[in-house]
Amino acid sequence: MFGVTGDLSRKKLLPAIYDLANRGLLPPGFGLVGFARRDWRAEHFAEVVQQAVRENARTPFRDDVWQQLLEGIRFVPGDLDSDEAFENLAATLRELDEAQGTGGNHAFYLSVPPKAFDITLDQLSRHGLAGKTPEGPDGAWSRVVIEKPFGHDLASAQELQRKVSAAFDPQSVFRIDHYLGKETVQNMLAFRFANQLFEPIWNRSYIDHVQITMAEDIGIGGRAGYYDGIGAARDVIQNHLLQLLALTAMEEPTSFSADQLRAEKLKVLQATRPAADLARGTARGQYQAAWAGGELVKGYLEEDGIPSDSRTETYAAIRVDIDNRRWAGVPFYLRTAKRMPRRVTEVALILKPAPHLPFTNSDVTGLGSNALVMRIQPDEGVMLRLGAKVPATQMEIRDVTMDFAYGTSFAESSPEAYERLILDVLLGDPPLFPQHEEVEAAWRILDPVLDYWQSLAEPPEGYPAGSWGTRSGREMLARDGRSWRRP
Ligand code: BG6
Repeated sequence: MFGVTGDLSRKKLLPAIYDLANRGLLPPGFGLVGFARRDWRAEHFAEVVQQAVRENARTPFRDDVWQQLLEGIRFVPGDLDSDEAFENLAATLRELDEAQGTGGNHAFYLSVPPKAFDITLDQLSRHGLAGKTPEGPDGAWSRVVIEKPFGHDLASAQELQRKVSAAFDPQSVFRIDHYLGKETVQNMLAFRFANQLFEPIWNRSYIDHVQITMAEDIGIGGRAGYYDGIGAARDVIQNHLLQLLALTAMEEPTSFSADQLRAEKLKVLQATRPAADLARGTARGQYQAAWAGGELVKGYLEEDGIPSDSRTETYAAIRVDIDNRRWAGVPFYLRTAKRMPRRVTEVALILKPAPHLPFTNSDVTGLGSNALVMRIQPDEGVMLRLGAKVPATQMEIRDVTMDFAYGTSFAESSPEAYERLILDVLLGDPPLFPQHEEVEAAWRILDPVLDYWQSLAEPPEGYPAGSWGTRSGREMLARDGRSWRRP
């Protein structure tokens, strides 16, 4: 694992590895090699791993599991451009292969900043660690795991792809979009394709529009170096939200094999385009200091490490349309932001209103449109909004909700996305990893929006931390006669 001292690794990756071990899902021969620019020895690294596990693992800490994991833990200190460090890495892997019986199978996890991808891939190739074929002559595999962002626009994504494919066979490349590892995201497939109920309405005849929201209550925390210059659209719309769109809008794949699934996602992404009038079909903003969640929080421009004239957006909303028979004329509104009132991710399909209401002398002011909401997190589940008569009144009809909650229907808790994804890398199971073509299609949708924002003279509009975003974001929907849901 490269970048093993980073935030992601401490909070998600190392705990996920432990959780997999705890669930008995890692082979006994599993080994973990950390690579970082730290003057550490293996014991020191093991302590860091243990601390990350104790603080962030989902399952309880068990000494026997830890002891077994510990046997396979190694550390290689050094810089990414140091040949000596990579020789040392190669030797460490050989030693570990012997000691643990790994069969020579290696997965290289690049949890490093994008600017370090190049050198890491290069070094892996130069030191004979990359895999130009899915398996070597001895049957051993060598895989690479890449964390987003996959480039910062179409051209840089293509450039990155050239570099990755110069070092690794396409089948050996696993691009992580951790949303695809979430149980509730996978449930979207079950929900859509295991039921008879929804398919008849899943189209332009019944759906008025779709809202995909990923709201976070946190700010950028200590991630100024990563976030500034990237912004909300590149950080999550390009990947997580467009993947959610693809799963919502795609046709039924003939099977859930990687090829079939990716083919359907790609088709729908290729049919997706941003609004022709970007001034009306996009909105961006930056959070400003305000009281939120009981504390006074800083504005984006006052965060440590953020230049006071930064134009990076922390709120992004875009309208996209899908040019195909199923969705023509049905806008998909995507929004995401830091420092919103709460953390919630959902996909909401808002239905058209009933064509006629035969209720005279009745009160229907509390009746909205039916909505079907797939709640990704928290309170994972599915919710249906419908109209119902208020008891004991003449005829007053109001919206009510019908809820399916994961937490009450199933006893077992959901694994973390990274548990599933890391396991799938080791098993060589690719359906949950986006392919390069999908990444390109997503940039083709987003690039015009980013170019447009870049061309604007005025900075992003401010919104108070702890609010639901900018006025321009609300107006974007209001112009279309719609409004954002309060999830
Ligand atoms: C990451 C983004 O991909 O997703 C972060 O880089 C964001 O900015 C995070 O906070 C949110 O993930 P989750 O799983 O908590 O919704």
